[in-house]
Amino acid sequence: MACTIAILASGNGTNAQAMIDKIAFGALDATIALIICNRPGAGVIQRAAKAGIPCLVLDHRQFADRESFDMRMAEELRAARVQWIVLAGYMRLLSPAFLQAFRGRVINIHPALLPSFPGLHGGADALAYGVKISGCTVHFVEEQVDSGPVIIQAAVPVHAQESVDELMQRIHAMEHRIYPQAVQWLAEGRIAVVGRQVCLTPGSKKPASRSGDWLVWPPLEEGF
Ligand code: GAR
Repeated sequence: MACTIAILASGNGTNAQAMIDKIAFGALDATIALIICNRPGAGVIQRAAKAGIPCLVLDHRQFADRESFDMRMAEELRAARVQWIVLAGYMRLLSPAFLQAFRGRVINIHPALLPSFPGLHGGADALAYGVKISGCTVHFVEEQVDSGPVIIQAAVPVHAQESVDELMQRIHAMEHRIYPQAVQWLAEGRIAVVGRQVCLTPGSKKPASRSGDWLVWPPLEEGF
């Protein structure tokens, strides 16, 4: 089963790239119909161009308010007939009207083990706090920042004396595996949300090969 997604991004776009690469590799059964970027000059725009994916650059500063910006995005997303909206480093809050229009169809990745360390600097905040295990979370988006039922998490140990950059590099490497995996589960129709619980129907794929000092739950499958 394939699905059609849109990606909303504000920055470098390494998570968007991970989706592009997993589709090319044949592990992710999705079509990226549209990328919307709210920051002119962001790295994700080049990545979209290189992959031949339509990319709409909408500078939010050109809009009167959040609602009018979000409604413009909503029009574009409807026109592109996307099933899932994938936030990949999209650093703006979405308005309640936008989330109502796409209820249950927006997912996000965050560089910390939610509900700890939400916000703009989850990874750095976790390191500053002195946690021994950090990681990343893919979740459905609700109105509160970085909230919503959790689909998959990767736990990444914090090494002694490591810098924010070093930790973030290892967290990003896991983001690039768990996010396409989560989208693949959506494409396969294996995800159901019951209250705050996200239930994953068992599939037939083998587990992914494991190396390194991380833990992912639910476990990654072959190709991710
Ligand atoms: C990622 O680390 C993502 O988890 C984070 O932004 C980065 C975007 O990187 N998102 C958040 O902090 C959301 N609260 P990318 O542009 O290279 O994909």
